[in-house]
Amino acid sequence: MTANNQPNPANFPLRFTWGVATSSYQIEGAAFEDGRSPSIWDTFCAAPGKVLNGENGDVACDHYHRLDSDLDLIQSLGVNAYRFSVAWPRILPDGRGQTNQAGLDFYSRLVDSLLTRNITPWLTLYHWDLPQVLQDRGGWPTRDTALAFGDYAEVVTAELGDRVKHWITINEPWVAAFMGYGNGIHAPGHTDLAESFAASHHLLLAHGLGVQAVRANVPGAQVGITLNLAAAYPATGSEADRAAAWRQDGFANRWYLDPVFGRGYPQDFVELLDRASPQAQGLVLPGDLDLVGAPTDFLGVNTYTRSVVEDAPGDGFLGARPLHVEGSEYTGFDWEVAPQSLTDLMLRLQKDYNPAAIYITENGATYPDTMNADGSVQDEARTRYFQQHIAAMGTALTGGAKMAGYFAWSLMDNFDWAEGYDKRFGIVHVDFETQARTLKQSGQWYRDFLARAQEGQPA
Ligand code: FCB
Repeated sequence: MTANNQPNPANFPLRFTWGVATSSYQIEGAAFEDGRSPSIWDTFCAAPGKVLNGENGDVACDHYHRLDSDLDLIQSLGVNAYRFSVAWPRILPDGRGQTNQAGLDFYSRLVDSLLTRNITPWLTLYHWDLPQVLQDRGGWPTRDTALAFGDYAEVVTAELGDRVKHWITINEPWVAAFMGYGNGIHAPGHTDLAESFAASHHLLLAHGLGVQAVRANVPGAQVGITLNLAAAYPATGSEADRAAAWRQDGFANRWYLDPVFGRGYPQDFVELLDRASPQAQGLVLPGDLDLVGAPTDFLGVNTYTRSVVEDAPGDGFLGARPLHVEGSEYTGFDWEVAPQSLTDLMLRLQKDYNPAAIYITENGATYPDTMNADGSVQDEARTRYFQQHIAAMGTALTGGAKMAGYFAWSLMDNFDWAEGYDKRFGIVHVDFETQARTLKQSGQWYRDFLARAQEGQPA
């Protein structure tokens, strides 16, 4: 890191992957067009009180109808990669079985248009929009959903594998499992610990089946999973707080990292979960852990913040309570700005798990933006956030972590799940009345930084 936390573009290899990221439900809109069936998010948004202001993704950024101009916008940033997700309900409206050609055509056109622009497509197979029909049959707590995902992965890899070489199986299984089935903040809104850990096992199984489909259908592919990870620190040096931080690490990080890297589930956490564990529920069948732990080409990491926890006996199943850190800056999501933790996390991942490569597949910040009278958005806090975190990634790279790429979250303001349109994460501002796109100061900074990084020139 250089003075004032400015990242040095010369610290990154010329072939580093630099991108922006989005996901289908958050930007596409066209929720009822061209044969798409409802996803669990359509249903959840329609239920009163689930999403802030009763908002939904029916229109979102209307990306489905603005594909060409949005791709021009992406190209104007000078990125060499774009991470997007495919909406399962557009491809298999019944969850499995009959494919919907119109859905495949949309993504095929997206991929071709990226390649024409010299932008490498990074395709995420699952970013939370499960076909509602599959939820009606039990959703992720049932094994069949993982098997259905295997079929879906087979269809998408067969169709796009000639052109897409970078595949992410599942985005953030922790969020899909725990926020979907454990605390109920996300679709489908269930609140049952055992169900959420059943879901976590089937999401990991789906990852394994996804890897298998990619290996079978895509010669020369790079495939991995994207986990949301946050380094966990004890509030004090006390034994009890250190144990609480280890439990938090088990919950958020090791529960997914250990099986993906072939070690099976962490035993301490299996014991902590007791009857809620997938083992106690009889869900871990012979062969599952081999499938989940099959070698991958990279680890995708979404990281935004860290957690600082204190021991809190009896506080939920975890007995750990997150704390606010005095003197720290917090983003609009109340997430602490902690760039040093990104460096710590990357170095720890390399040391403990030795991934072949690490890509930061999401990193960014939400703040309330204001558009000035001259039409500009001077999002200084977000700009600083990107600078500090890219610099922190550079420090990890220098320290030996195999950092290979970075995707800013997000290309543009979008539908942020339970928070609706309230939380803006874009480097491009979206006026949701007119759908006008305006590059924010953070976007201008990122574009200018990438121009220097790709020339290999020092700042
Ligand atoms: C991540 C999600 C992404 C977005 C950001 C803010 O958990 O993957 O869709 O909502 O958080």
